[in-house]
Formats: sequence, C-alpha cells, structure tokens
Amino acid sequence: MPRKIAAGNWKMNGLQADLQMLRDLAAARPTAPGAPADPVTMVICPPATLLAAAASLPGPLAIGAQDCHSAPAGAHTGDLSAQMIRDCGARFVITGHSERRSDYGETDSIVAAKSAAAHAAGLTAIICLGETLAQREAGKTLDVVLGQLAGSLPESASAANTVIAYEPVWAIGTGRVAGPAEIASVHAALRAALIADLADGAEVSLLYGGSVKAANAAEIFAVPEVNGALVGGASLTLADFAPIISALAAA
Ligand code: PGA
Repeated sequence: MPRKIAAGNWKMNGLQADLQMLRDLAAARPTAPGAPADPVTMVICPPATLLAAAASLPGPLAIGAQDCHSAPAGAHTGDLSAQMIRDCGARFVITGHSERRSDYGETDSIVAAKSAAAHAAGLTAIICLGETLAQREAGKTLDVVLGQLAGSLPESASAANTVIAYEPVWAIGTGRVAGPAEIASVHAALRAALIADLADGAEVSLLYGGSVKAANAAEIFAVPEVNGALVGGASLTLADFAPIISALAAA
C-alpha cells in the first residue's frame, strides 16, 4: 500500500513565530481515535528561512523545502541545492509546483533534473503535475498530466523517494476543487503510468492538491488512488490542517 501523506505547502508564508504551529501540530498528532500510531506521514514545507529550525523540532513531523536547484553546488545566487536542504535536516522537497512552472518557466526537464538532484541528496521529491483550465476545457487533461509525468520523473525515481501530487492549476488557491470523478480519472491514469514505468509504481503515494479543506477532505480521500493531499492555504493553521490529517487517517 502507498503510504498516506498529508503535506502542507506554506509557500511564501511563515515567520519564526509560526514555528509554534509546528510544535502544536506535533503535539496534537491528529490521527483517528483507535488508529495505529501515526498512520499518516505529516510533512510541512515552510519557507527556506524556517527549514533548519523546523527540522530541529522534536516530534513526528517531516520537513520539506519548496524547491531546489538541480546542481549540487555552484554560482547560482539565491538558490539552494538539494544537499543543503538535506543537510539542514529536511527530508522532502517539492519540485515542479505550478507556481514555479509559471513564475519561473520551469519545464518538465528542469523538474526532472531537480528531482534527480533531490534523490541524489537523499530527499524524497514531491513532483507536482496539473493542467490549466484551458487545457481541461480543451479535453487535454490526461494528455497534459501524463506528458508532465513522463517528462518530470527522473530515472532515479522509486516509491521510496518519489511522491506525485496532482494539482489542477485552476483549483489551486481558488476555492474551486476538482470533483471526485475528475480526480479519479486522473489518478487512475497516473497510477497506470507509474506501474508501467516503475518496478514499484503501485507503491508510489499519489496526492491530490488544490483547495483541499476540512470540509472536502473526506470526500477527496475516498477517491480511489488518492493517498493524501498537498495542502496550501489550509496548512497554515492547526485548526484548518488537523482535521484534514484526521480525515486522511480515517480514510
Ligand atoms: P491550496 O494550494 O491548497 O491553497 O489550493 C495547494 C498547493 O498549491 O499546493
């Protein structure tokens, strides 16, 4: 079975004082009553300024970065290498988020190179894919996401070091969530492609992302081949994030 993962992407939010939310989350362990201990891997991806402090907190939280460079070191002002991220105690890194694809022109091959760098450094890459509204309306959703998967997945990928997050661009930060049937069709196609591409493709965790909230989490986690969520806005407070984790634990 793929592991269940609730990952929070804080984007460009979070100051030192917000580390308290991580302490509270670690203490709350919002898993289902009676469930085995920690059935959900909880990951928080704070801004780079908080990575080391977040990773040094005791408790069950895994920490991830929101991006990395593809090179191990060098003249790349402002960038962080995957090795630096691992060195400060983080275990995950998001690659290919749609905001980086659109803001910085990151292509599938750049995302694949960053993901390979993450693997080489011992990080798990959370590789993001997703179609725009125009692509969905043109009936190209499956072509787009399967193309992104093929182009963004490095040869080093396995279920142990790779998580795939399907995030329709039109559902990110908009309050507009994809319906269960829309999510099911994309996740089924991604699962089939992963099984075809990787020896352990059946074990890769497949996350949904885009306006996941406490109110819609249970419905989303009931969709076949959804193994968790990548959560933006609703990961910023314990009150919003804890019920999502509980819903995943109970699914
Ligand atoms: P959202 O963001 O939950 O705020 O829609 C999700 C994401 O971009 O990962």
